[in-house]
Amino acid sequence: MGRHGLIFIMIISLDSVLGQVSYSIPEEMVKGSVVGNIARDLGLDVKRLKSGKARIFTSDSVQYIELSRERGVLFVKDRIDRESLCRQTTPCALHLQIILENPMELFRITVEITDVNDNSPSFKNDQRRFEISESAVTGSKFVLERAVDADIGVNGLKNYTLKPTGNFVLSIQSHSDGIKKVEMVLHKPLDREKEEHISLLLTAVDGGEPQMSGTVKIDVTVLDVNDNAPVFTQSLYKAAIAENSPIGTTLITVSASDADKGTNGEVSYSVSTAIDSETDSFTINENGDVIVVGEVDFEKAKYYRIDIEAQDSGGLSDSSKIIVDVIDVNDNKPVISILSKSDLIREDSPQNTVIAMFSVLDPDSSNNGQVNCRISGKLPFTISTSSNDFYSLVTDSELDRERSSEYNISMTCSDEGVPSLSSSVTLTLQISDVNDNAPVFERSSYEAYIIENNTPGLSIFTVKARDADWNQNARVSYILEDSSVNGVPVSSYVSVSADSGVIHAVRSFDYEQIKDFHFRVKAQDGGSPPLSSNVTVKVLIQDQNDNPPQVLYPVQTGGSLVAEMVPRSADVGYLVTKVVAVDVDSGQNAWLSYKLQKATDRALFEVGLQNGEIRTIRGVTDKDAVKQRLTVIVEDNGQPSRSATVIVNVAVADSFPEVLSEFTDYTQDKEYNDNL
Ligand SMILES: *[C@@H]1O[C@H](CO)[C@@H](O)[C@H](O)[C@H]1NC(C)=O
Ligand SMILES: *[C@@H]1O[C@H](CO)[C@@H](O)[C@H](O)[C@H]1NC(C)=O
Ligand SMILES: *[C@@H]1O[C@H](CO)[C@@H](O)[C@H](O)[C@H]1NC(C)=O
Repeated sequence: MGRHGLIFIMIISLDSVLGQVSYSIPEEMVKGSVVGNIARDLGLDVKRLKSGKARIFTSDSVQYIELSRERGVLFVKDRIDRESLCRQTTPCALHLQIILENPMELFRITVEITDVNDNSPSFKNDQRRFEISESAVTGSKFVLERAVDADIGVNGLKNYTLKPTGNFVLSIQSHSDGIKKVEMVLHKPLDREKEEHISLLLTAVDGGEPQMSGTVKIDVTVLDVNDNAPVFTQSLYKAAIAENSPIGTTLITVSASDADKGTNGEVSYSVSTAIDSETDSFTINENGDVIVVGEVDFEKAKYYRIDIEAQDSGGLSDSSKIIVDVIDVNDNKPVISILSKSDLIREDSPQNTVIAMFSVLDPDSSNNGQVNCRISGKLPFTISTSSNDFYSLVTDSELDRERSSEYNISMTCSDEGVPSLSSSVTLTLQISDVNDNAPVFERSSYEAYIIENNTPGLSIFTVKARDADWNQNARVSYILEDSSVNGVPVSSYVSVSADSGVIHAVRSFDYEQIKDFHFRVKAQDGGSPPLSSNVTVKVLIQDQNDNPPQVLYPVQTGGSLVAEMVPRSADVGYLVTKVVAVDVDSGQNAWLSYKLQKATDRALFEVGLQNGEIRTIRGVTDKDAVKQRLTVIVEDNGQPSRSATVIVNVAVADSFPEVLSEFTDYTQDKEYNDNL
């Protein structure tokens, strides 16, 4: 209200000592401002004011209002602050007395001090902090500090506003004593995860014109409540791991986030306890790393399902799962199991005879489990596969015990992994004998030599036959085959020792009677049926010098004298006669040579060494005796040599009668015979 709007309340008291005037002024008028024309209002002359030494009396310690006697007005002497004067008391007034002397008069002046809106609402603190749990229920109330406005009436505190109005609304309660209760009411639930700090401004306004206001800043810190469960980033994780991965291998890192704060947001991970023991192979650490802690074996599990859980410290949790594909590694050798086998088969077993049946298992997958079996070396066997994993070892050609009586069959089964793994097994197979080999003589034919005149029973020779079979099938007996030699059974010539093949002469042979003969010896084995073969043995009888030469001519007769005639006219080299001898032996034993052993006249005759011809070696003279006697020795060339002698009578004469007279008693020629 302006200073021109003064309210005059004038009460003219008829009591001479007491007149009363009231003024109303706003507070805070500038010093010197006129409060009122007291002279006029009291109906006093200015002169009277002077003469009466009009002055103001007040009980207040401070004199706010001064009197101007000259002008007859009251004016503001000191600053008037309604609020410090009266605080909230209404009305607020200054009570003055104007005292006049001569005569003494007393006037009461009341100066009402009206309020001016010169105070804004104010709060004791300019900031207020709240910590409110995000779980606070809507409707929860939070008492706010009230503002104070020293002004009164319309200038006093009028209303509050709270901004922004997101979560909280203001509740203002008016009591009968006018004191308001200001509260902040939770209107919409708090969510720390969305807004952790809320700044509000509480404004208190008064009703003055212009309006004044005061504010307090309200800071709300939303306290976390474990209202968020951890959430895995994926509801299903996929991972792959090679089997046999070492312990400590990190498989995958999972993560769950928790919107809460502090411990409420701290997530711990675990592998859910499942009945499934597979999951023992994995653990999860505080960082969400899934780590191998046990055996990962493709052969036991081709994949794992790991149920995992994330839990915050408040016990809220989420679960997820990890599907782990296990990658096969070639870590298994093929395993060979012999299901049945023969240790011994006959050598005449037909092709495709089954020797063994076996299975091969490799638990690895695909190529790592794909198995091929083969036989080491070049053996007459092959592996045939009947069905998956089942194999049989069969013969693939004819067997021959005589070539190989035992086989060590090494079979190797390898998988197709890289690198490949393999297993081997060795089967020993014995080949049993079948009598499929006849005895075979060491030579296709034999020739044996025996010197005639042998002693009967002499062993001549040994034939030998071998049989490639075994044992009884190879036991050879020798049998002389029936035949005849010159019409005589051969068994009367030779015998054969059944066991040893030694051939013995049964008789003494005479080369001059039989020079050779042959027969057959059979070799037979002990098989059933037996097999045999035969060989021709030719026996050659060797000559012995067992016959002396025999002189055929000249014939040696006892008494008769045969003489060869040599005419006296015979020349040198005249063929007198020829000694003819034979030797029934043969060869050197029958090779004869002739020598002159003794002669009447050695100078007259010679004997041809080879042919036995007796010739003259000089001309015959008349002096030569008629009667000439020669002794010729015939020797064979045997060792030792044998010989025969022959006496040849020669007559040197021209006529036969001449001869006769001379040859009377040739044989009784003692002297000659002694010289022989
Ligand atoms: C206080 O202010 C609010 C909003 O600003 C209003 O709705 C309400 O009526 C006011 N109260 C008074 C007494 O003026
Ligand atoms: C088979 O193996 C055995 C034992 O190793 C050995 O004594 C035998 O000589 C082998 N046989 C052949 C035919 O290799
Ligand atoms: C002797 O063997 C030959 C073949 O070497 C055969 O032809 C013949 O029949 C055999 N003789 C006997 C008596 O076994």
